[in-house]
Amino acid sequence: MLNNDQIALWDRENFFHPSTHLAMHARGETPSRVIRTGAGVHIEDRDGKRLLDAFAGLYCVNVGYGRPEIAEAIADQARELAYYHAYVGHGTEASITLAKMVMDRAPKGMSKVYFGLSGSDANETNIKLVWYYNNILGRFEKKKIISRWRGYHGSGLMTGSLTGLGLFHQKFDLPLEQVIHTDAPYYFRREKTEMSEEAFSAQCAARLEELILAHGPDTIAAFIGEPVLGTGGIVPPPAGYWPAIQAVLRKYDILLIADEVVTGFGRLGTMFGSDHYGIEPDFITIAKGLTSAYAPLSGSIVSDRVWKVLEQGTDENGPIGHGWTYSAHPIGAAAGVANLRLIDELGLVANAGEMGAYLKSSLTEALGDHPNVGEVRGEGLMCAVELVESRAPNTFFDPSRKIGPSIAAAMAEMGVIARAMPQGDIIGYAPPFCITREEIDTVVSATAAAVKKVLG
Ligand SMILES: Cc1ncc(COP(=O)(O)O)c(C=O)c1O
Repeated sequence: MLNNDQIALWDRENFFHPSTHLAMHARGETPSRVIRTGAGVHIEDRDGKRLLDAFAGLYCVNVGYGRPEIAEAIADQARELAYYHAYVGHGTEASITLAKMVMDRAPKGMSKVYFGLSGSDANETNIKLVWYYNNILGRFEKKKIISRWRGYHGSGLMTGSLTGLGLFHQKFDLPLEQVIHTDAPYYFRREKTEMSEEAFSAQCAARLEELILAHGPDTIAAFIGEPVLGTGGIVPPPAGYWPAIQAVLRKYDILLIADEVVTGFGRLGTMFGSDHYGIEPDFITIAKGLTSAYAPLSGSIVSDRVWKVLEQGTDENGPIGHGWTYSAHPIGAAAGVANLRLIDELGLVANAGEMGAYLKSSLTEALGDHPNVGEVRGEGLMCAVELVESRAPNTFFDPSRKIGPSIAAAMAEMGVIARAMPQGDIIGYAPPFCITREEIDTVVSATAAAVKKVLG
């Protein structure tokens, strides 16, 4: 086996890591952790250090690590047929079965699923289909996409533009001009503290309408949003938000893309976030939980109303000019089938709901009174603790103090991984759905100890 120094050298010399401070990493100034194995909610690095992963990788290993059922399904598929494409009507038993399983679980009104590889490419697909749809309907000017500040939709050219976080735009010449941003539904950070949640939701909807009118409704094609803001801070929507937003979108005939890359397949304690909040989307983006990240696979679920127009389009223009070599890759599809079966067999959606409620109430009990904890929030197994310099009114720490990252680092030393969210001092939790009460107790104690260590 290679020794650690050799691995660290190869890493620094050869490996371009995503979302990493490149210069510091190349100089060896950031810790590199090489993960070797995992089981349940735990991962283990090559030094034998075991960590409880309360963020399920990047909120994706929903069934937990080390599931033999999925590993075997992948191995069987690789032995039988590692690859065939899905172009011109081709498929495999795995990809067709998975499509059926996805559509059986999808909210009502949805028609078909297109498979890609990542959440980013699925959202690229959605935007292309939105444009295709409007071109087929002869609405050639209706092309702009509204996204939200703090939304996260990927880091491609279009999807990086949709993402509403400055880090993903700066120096990349993004956002592209077809993308415009509206307010984040971030009640905790509202300007007027006296405002009720409902009034704040109404304000978000009114501001959206103003934006639409300023650009002209005939130029706005679609709105994209995560049911619960994820990477932007793990922020559940305020009461009445989605009905208010949908009313505006319907008024101006604007399509709705529900980005369920994180919420799809159970994270909120319901199969889809759209079911959870009564959202009626035209597109649903799926990825992470589709295979619990055992293999890369994503999807764009399209509604009946969109599908009809896509069919009309190909009758008029010939086959749809869109596809990836690896669309519906058989190995990913086999992983997806085994994963969705496991979620059902183990009752993991219900467990995500129950454990999510326990995590939120335990965090609130342990930290709610701390003078630097501004809010403990969450929905299902997506929870966050937001830190403030002072409460009532909230003032925030200077980002250069790196309070969130310091707390996450202190937790990692104690053997628990939570995520310092990229904008604000926010500690995020999104563990695998199989987490138990005892494991949640460990996560909460580590958080309390780390907050004490960093902030007193
Ligand atoms: C809501 C949402 N959409 C899209 C993406 C992009 O997915 P990927 O990283 O697989 O491209 C992510 C990734 O975290 C996400 O959270």
